[in-house]
Amino acid sequence: MRDSRETFVNHAFVTGFPVKHSRSPLIHGYWLRELGIAGSYQAHEVSPEDFPDFMRQLKSGASGFCGGNVTIPHKEAAFRLSDRPDELSAELGAANTLWVEDGEICATNTDGQGFVANLDERAEGWDQISTAVVLGAGGASRAVIQAVRDRGIKAIHVVNRTPARAQELADRFGAAVHAHPLGALSEVMTEAGLFINTTSLGMDGEPAPEIDFSMLAKDAVVTDIVYVPLKTPLLRQAEAQGFAIVDGLGMLLHQAVPGFEKWFGRRPVVDETLRQLII
Ligand code: ATR
Repeated sequence: MRDSRETFVNHAFVTGFPVKHSRSPLIHGYWLRELGIAGSYQAHEVSPEDFPDFMRQLKSGASGFCGGNVTIPHKEAAFRLSDRPDELSAELGAANTLWVEDGEICATNTDGQGFVANLDERAEGWDQISTAVVLGAGGASRAVIQAVRDRGIKAIHVVNRTPARAQELADRFGAAVHAHPLGALSEVMTEAGLFINTTSLGMDGEPAPEIDFSMLAKDAVVTDIVYVPLKTPLLRQAEAQGFAIVDGLGMLLHQAVPGFEKWFGRRPVVDETLRQLII
């Protein structure tokens, strides 16, 4: 006898332009296999001009997707075109995770959650420090600053090549956040307990600039959101100077957790096998 019950299989996506470099299909594919879920997660390249139509099809159900991840350059448009952005994404003006509920597109941004989950795992007690230095003032920096501020870090010094962008973040995030030009880096590092790099400084074949971390507090943690290579030039320098370092791979893995749970109904675990698979 044929079973007349329908089997619902959820399909999720990652979209960007380009999207082929994305590690997300590997991450979600691993979890789907591990948990034995008959769902799918696939890379789906969409150009900026086609993105509004992609969102319309997501909302109507025509695309067959229940939700997905959004990466560069669609994060701002995903936020704007969603029906129910949450507070986190609204404050950032950017979304990286979408799902459809009652015919409406809901949106959030999990980058900051990924960042703090990685620190929670690898630098327990980090949120007891009072002062952090953030290098860079782009989209990624914004999500990191929001998350660090929300965990109660009292002073966050944003240092950026283009000081106006750092100032924009200070204006956006309020009293805890202070803007500085690159030249002030050593000075603002004095006694800071956490140093966060959000730039690609020293990557892309450029020589890594020498950063003297010695002004930081002795037990400071230095972390990078770049994860290729796992030990970035900046992390190597900090390690050579005796500081604890945390690489950025865990941020990538942990930011994927809330989306998977929304689309497939199970909370996945970031384990060592997954780390090895993605490196
Ligand atoms: P993302 O969204 O990934 O953060 P972005 O918005 O392009 O990317 O931001 C990149 C950040 O890295 C910026 O803070 C940028 O500094 P500017 O605001 O002055 O552009 C910083 N950055 C990139 N390359 C840099 C370099 N060679 N030296 C100093 N800062 C650099």
